[in-house]
Amino acid sequence: MSDLVVANGIVVAGGQAEAADVVVSDGRIVDITDPGTGRGDEIVDAAGRIVLPGGVDAHVHFLIGFMGQRSVYDFYSGTVAALRGGVTTVIDFALQRRGRGLVEGLKHRRVQADRHVATDYGLHLIVTDVHPESCAEIPALSNLGVTSLKVYTTYAREQLKVEDGPLFDLMQAAGRHGTMVGLHAENDSIIEHETAKCLARGEVSPRGHALSRPLVSETEAVARALLLAEAAACPLHIFHLSSGHGLDHLAAARAKGQPVFAETCTHYLALTEACYDRPQAHLYVMSPPLRAHDQQERLWAGLQRGELAAVTSDDASYSAAAKQPGDGTFQSIANGVPGVEARLPLLYSLGVDQGWLDLPRLAEVFSTWPARLFGLAPEKGSIAIGADADLVIIDAETERVITAASHFGDIGYSPYEGMALKGWPVATVRRGQVSVTEGTFHGRAGDGRFLERRRPDLTV
Ligand code: URP
Ligand code: ZN
Repeated sequence: MSDLVVANGIVVAGGQAEAADVVVSDGRIVDITDPGTGRGDEIVDAAGRIVLPGGVDAHVHFLIGFMGQRSVYDFYSGTVAALRGGVTTVIDFALQRRGRGLVEGLKHRRVQADRHVATDYGLHLIVTDVHPESCAEIPALSNLGVTSLKVYTTYAREQLKVEDGPLFDLMQAAGRHGTMVGLHAENDSIIEHETAKCLARGEVSPRGHALSRPLVSETEAVARALLLAEAAACPLHIFHLSSGHGLDHLAAARAKGQPVFAETCTHYLALTEACYDRPQAHLYVMSPPLRAHDQQERLWAGLQRGELAAVTSDDASYSAAAKQPGDGTFQSIANGVPGVEARLPLLYSLGVDQGWLDLPRLAEVFSTWPARLFGLAPEKGSIAIGADADLVIIDAETERVITAASHFGDIGYSPYEGMALKGWPVATVRRGQVSVTEGTFHGRAGDGRFLERRRPDLTV
C-alpha cells in the first residue's frame, strides 16, 4: 500500500496529458497507473482537474533589502505563498558582500533561510566583487550545491554592478568548473545618462523609469554578454529578459550551439508599458521595465518555440507603501513586484487558454526546464517514477479575480489586480505531503530543504 494517490486527474507527464493516477510512497512517485487503479492510505481525487509537476520558480527574492526597502515576504511567508501558487521549489539568492567571500555569503543566507522555508529551495550566488580569491571559491561553492552565479551589469549605486573586465574573468573561472553565470543584463551607462536627461526635463514620474531604460539598454547588454560568454567558454543565463530584441540575439547564439539560456517573467507576459500611465504607476516599477505589446508577443512566441527556458516570477514583494517614491522621483522607487503565487494561473490563462502553450509546454516552462537548467532534475521538475512527489492540482474551469487581498501576505496591492484567471491550484503536494488545499497551508516552517544543485544541464 502506498501513502498517497492523486487519482483520476489529467496528468501532464512525459510530454503528454492523459488521465492517470499518480502513486506516492515515502515522498517519491512510485507509479503512474490507469485512472482509478492506484491504491494508497490517502486518496486525493483530482477528477476534472489537471495535475502538473510542482513548480520550480528559479528567481525569487525573499527577505530582501533593496533601495532602502524590505520585502514583505521572508523565507516563511514567501515559501507559503509559493506553495499556494503550486510552486514546490524556489531558487533565491545569496549575496557576496564586497570584500568578503562567496562561501561566506552562502552560509549567511542559509542561516536566514534553512529553518524557515516551507518549500524546498536552492540559492544562486550574487557576485559583487570579482578577484582571484573569489574566482578560486567557485569549485567550493559548486561542491556546496551552488552551481549558478548572478552578476549585475547595473545598479552601481546599490554596490552591485560588476564591470566587464572582472565579469570576463569570472566567466572564464566559472566556465572551467561548469558553473553558470547568470546576468541582470542592462547597460548602466545608458541608464544613468537617460535618467539624468529625464530628471533634467522634469520627467520624474514612473514613466521616466521606463524611458530611462530603453530597449537598447537591455539588448546591448545581452549581446555583449553573449560575446563575453562565448570567448570565456562559459554557460550563460539571462535573468528576466523583457524584450524580443534581446531574445533575437539569444536565439541566434543558441542556433550556433552556444550554451546560452534565458527566462522571462510573468509580468513581462501579462503587463505592458501602458501600466506606466495608470494612477498607481509606481507599483509597476521593476527592472528591466515593462515593454510594448509587440515585445510581449515576441516573448510568448519565443516561449512557444522553446527559445526561452523558463518563466520566473522575480518575486520582490515591496508593499504598496514601500513603493512610494521616497524623493518624489522614479529613481527612489524600490524595483520589483510580487508574483510567486500568481505565476501558474497567469501562465494557464494567458498561455494555455490563449493558445500560446499546450499543457506539456506549460509543464516545461513552469517546472521541468528550470529544474534541468539549474541542476535539480531528475528529482524535481517532472511527474515520473522515482521523482520527488511534488505535484500541483489545478482547476482549469473556475475563474477567480486577483485582488490585493486574495494573495498571501500584507503587500497591499497586486500588479495583476482585477485580472480574472483560471488555473488556480486546488492542492499542492510537496514531497508526498499535501501541503496546501484551497489556499490553506498545512505544513510548518522548516518543512523545506536546501537543495544542493548539480551542474546545469546544458541540453535544455
Ligand atoms: O526589478 C527587479 N527585478 N527587482 C529585483 C532585483 C533584480 O534585479 O533581480
Ligand atoms: Zn535582476
